[in-house]
Amino acid sequence: MRMKGYMETGEEIMRAAPSEEPARQYYFMEKLKPWFLKACAAQGRTLTYNIQTFGCQMNAKDSEKLSGILREIGYEEAATEEADFVLYNTCTVRENANTRVYGRIGYLGRLKRSRSPHMKIALCGCMMQEAHVVAKLQKSYPFVDLIFGTHNIYQLAELLFRQIYYGHMVVEIREEADAVVEELPSERKFSFKAGVNIMYGCNNFCSYCIVPYVRGRERSRRPEDILREMEEMAKSGVTEVMLLGQNVNSYGKTLKTPVSFAELLKLAEEVEGIRRIRFMTPHPKDLSDELIGVMAESKKICRHVHLPVQSGSSRILKLMNRHYTKEDYLALVARIRAAMPDVALTTDIIVGYPGETEEDFMETMDLVSRVRYVSAFTFLYSKRTGTPAAAIKDQVPEETAKERYDRLVGRIREISGEMAQADTGKTAEVLVEEVNAKRHGYVTGRLANNLLVHFPGDESLLGRYVDVSLTECMGFYYIGSQKG
Ligand code: SAH
Ligand code: SF4
Ligand code: F3S
Repeated sequence: MRMKGYMETGEEIMRAAPSEEPARQYYFMEKLKPWFLKACAAQGRTLTYNIQTFGCQMNAKDSEKLSGILREIGYEEAATEEADFVLYNTCTVRENANTRVYGRIGYLGRLKRSRSPHMKIALCGCMMQEAHVVAKLQKSYPFVDLIFGTHNIYQLAELLFRQIYYGHMVVEIREEADAVVEELPSERKFSFKAGVNIMYGCNNFCSYCIVPYVRGRERSRRPEDILREMEEMAKSGVTEVMLLGQNVNSYGKTLKTPVSFAELLKLAEEVEGIRRIRFMTPHPKDLSDELIGVMAESKKICRHVHLPVQSGSSRILKLMNRHYTKEDYLALVARIRAAMPDVALTTDIIVGYPGETEEDFMETMDLVSRVRYVSAFTFLYSKRTGTPAAAIKDQVPEETAKERYDRLVGRIREISGEMAQADTGKTAEVLVEEVNAKRHGYVTGRLANNLLVHFPGDESLLGRYVDVSLTECMGFYYIGSQKG
């Protein structure tokens, strides 16, 4: 949709853009505003946007930034994909995340053809960092307007400007990130809790994982930038923050003045107005005693550690390039529990890694019985192009992997049920997050240990901290009632 008139000057506008960030992006947001008003006039209403986010908290956070940019231009959020600007922020950590996206892009294409030729379809996120994905999209999905990668998120306004000016698909994928761009608008999903990036990328290269290839090398934000963002969030009503990174334990190592993650947590603790601090994800290989000490002393850091183990077999862990053994992991769990007896542990486990034998799998079963997780995410191994594990010949047959998966999930359910049962009858504080969509007259709150409690209440409780008694245990969650 090449816009005549105003857009005639597009070349000049691009030439005159400041080169430094984020000024450059604010410049393009401003330059898009007149176009946006014209496009609204043509439709006779304010144009809307809808972002579908797949994958992890990093993507969720990126979507908040994308949302902030679109709102700054003037778009209003729509509840469904029947919007004027639809953006898929994709994940490629496992194959099934990937396949789902293609089906849905096809659906968007039909929507655009049949009803809204002016509609803009944009794709970004981790899948776009894979060359074969982009090639396929260019060939078979020509109706897509914008394709950009994980390192180009902040450039949405500039890319949209280019797309409008040139009138054809714009593809912008950077292989590696340059500097971390600060101070862009961001639109938070919740008013009272928020994610804060502390670092980007990953250097670990676990042999099954595609994340280091699609998110690039580790880069940490400066502590002063993180703290400033937290302070601003606190001023605007946020009380719970989640510090985000693929391996938060290596936070700060690459900074000019190195700062450890434990030191950062101590600084975060000082931010007035923040009541709860969470973090994701620590890698077991470098979770320090310093960090355990800081957590144990803290009044704000939630006593919940998500500690992905991936496998209970030391042999498989070595093949996975995880740099710890089953014994190291159990010893770490013992140190964490000694310092914080009431800590809740959760994990990620992969079943069916190439070469996994029944014996290896039984080590995983043994580990979950010993650690006793409050909950665990279990994944069937998924072969990712370009990772070392994908080249291994000895793949586990699907049937065998599924059968092991079911056994593991059964055991984990049993244990989490028992863990949750042990707290039934107790009173604990929750942060009320949402009105319960399924149970009329109920709200849902989150305990410090990350479990959910549904209890009678209404939207006036949203964002408030409430003491609830955990009346009935439902396995992964509780039914409760407000105290006092
Ligand atoms: N950085 C985090 C997790 C990132 S991905 C960490 O190191 O723990 C989230 C989870 O997806 C991983 O913990 C792992 O369990 C799972 N995962 C990653 N690659 C996978 C693959 N190829 N197949 C199946 N699960 C995978
Ligand atoms: Fe993937 Fe391993 Fe990095 Fe986690 S630490 S993102 S599993 S490579
Ligand atoms: Fe997926 Fe990318 Fe996160 S691959 S898990 S969205 S870092």
